[in-house]
Amino acid sequence: MNQAVDPPPGAPAPTTVVLATRNRGKMKEILDLFGKAGIQLHLLSIDDVASDLELREDESTFEGNALAKARQASSATGLPALADDSGLEVDALAGAPGVWSARYAGSPTQDAGSDDRRNNEKLLHALAGVPEARRTARYRCVATYVDTARNVELSRAGSCEGQILTSPRGTGGFGYDPVFLVPSLGRTMAELDLEEKNRLSHRGAAFRALARDLRARAGSGP
Ligand code: IMP
Repeated sequence: MNQAVDPPPGAPAPTTVVLATRNRGKMKEILDLFGKAGIQLHLLSIDDVASDLELREDESTFEGNALAKARQASSATGLPALADDSGLEVDALAGAPGVWSARYAGSPTQDAGSDDRRNNEKLLHALAGVPEARRTARYRCVATYVDTARNVELSRAGSCEGQILTSPRGTGGFGYDPVFLVPSLGRTMAELDLEEKNRLSHRGAAFRALARDLRARAGSGP
């Protein structure tokens, strides 16, 4: 993955930034969000520039993990890095799976589709018998920009309220999207297209806020 957005004539060359994630679903969403944010970025994936880097995330908060991933990517490559950490909080499960969302049914494997299926099965099993009114949940995301060379660290959070269905619906998105109902639309996240999801999602809110911060910094000079 290597995406450049052409600058208008006379504009400064876009900043090259590395995306500290290997999650293809997230990558698509973040590319779309930054493409629309009106900032000139040349986005590289971590696999383009540091394919061996592990990207550890063993902190206990979304912000801690997002910062850890962006710091690792920026230090290893010398480039500014963007990262996010995100997950699902289910009220009837006291906020689980939370920061463990990707690993809820065990360590992630090479097969993201089957990891997602196992996570969703475990979630539906844990919520068996819980009535609709108590199946409230939210996605949370912290988006982070780190430029270790210039000592810059910015983080912004976003969330999106929903409800966990009793069976999956839809084929879009990734992760828990097929069981996550957006009540105002009567559709699951997996029944939305990329643009609709980004408009109302936790990741959309967090990255739009981060893009505003980056624009404000660019406007205020080096
Ligand atoms: P991370 O890569 O550690 O941030 O893990 C995020 C995990 O949370 C994903 O693997 C999904 O299981 C879940 N998750 C986060 N954002 C979303 C989303 O937008 N849709 C569905 N699942 C998500």
